Amino acid sequence: MTSTWVKFYDFKHSIIYVNERHRDVHYARIAHDIAPYIPSPAARVLDYGSGEALHADEMAARCASLVLAEAAPNVRAVLTQRFAGNAKIKVMTPEQVAALPSGSFDFIVMHSVSQYLTVPELEGLLGRFRKLLTSGGLLVVGDVVPARFASLAAALALMRFGAANGFLGAAILGLMRIVASDYLRLRKIIGLSHYDEAGMLAKLAAAGFSASRAERNIGHNQARMTFLARPL
Ligand SMILES: C[S@@+](CC[C@H](N)C(=O)[O-])C[C@H]1O[C@@H](n2cnc3c(N)ncnc32)[C@H](O)[C@@H]1O
Repeated sequence: MTSTWVKFYDFKHSIIYVNERHRDVHYARIAHDIAPYIPSPAARVLDYGSGEALHADEMAARCASLVLAEAAPNVRAVLTQRFAGNAKIKVMTPEQVAALPSGSFDFIVMHSVSQYLTVPELEGLLGRFRKLLTSGGLLVVGDVVPARFASLAAALALMRFGAANGFLGAAILGLMRIVASDYLRLRKIIGLSHYDEAGMLAKLAAAGFSASRAERNIGHNQARMTFLARPL
């Protein structure tokens, strides 16, 4: 499941973004929403499954160091080039992150990735995050997708986001492209992982976190959920 979704995201111009404006405002919104969770200017931060992270410099400005972990090699190459001039930002593979010592980070965010992981993969990753976080650290898991009406909610949220940011026409065309694309075919064949609020809270508790659901989801789709988790 994971390797297929990672290949899907390894295109430089994924069809998930309907145009360049969408790609830019998407990443600006994510960075803007994540930044206030960064606990202090001294924090060591990990963004796991960062994607293209176009506005990671906004997060880096709020912390001491920022690791962007991304499984897709072409996305990693773009990230490495984009942030070569920023001494605070490092790009790593998931394997490199897994090899880091315990307590390497004060803050970890994983946004819009849980749906692409199998349940055992998510469980393994939460356990790894628990080890990598300092005892007073914070884990934020964002964009967790509940099962009910997920596609309809995503389409409506994209149209609202497009209308608010000047790309409604492109959003509608983009949705038509997505319907005809590999994305829906992969969704049918490989599937996405869904969690309701209690389900994700239980996974976080089992991994050794005390967790709660945030009032708002990070990003534009408020039908999805963000969770805040602290090591027990
Ligand atoms: C929907 S994108 C999210 C990107 C970014 N976090 C955001 O919110 O825009 C999902 C990302 O997770 C990455 N990904 C999927 N499975 C992964 C894994 N097992 N480890 C690391 N990254 C993974 C994909 O390559 C892709 O960049």
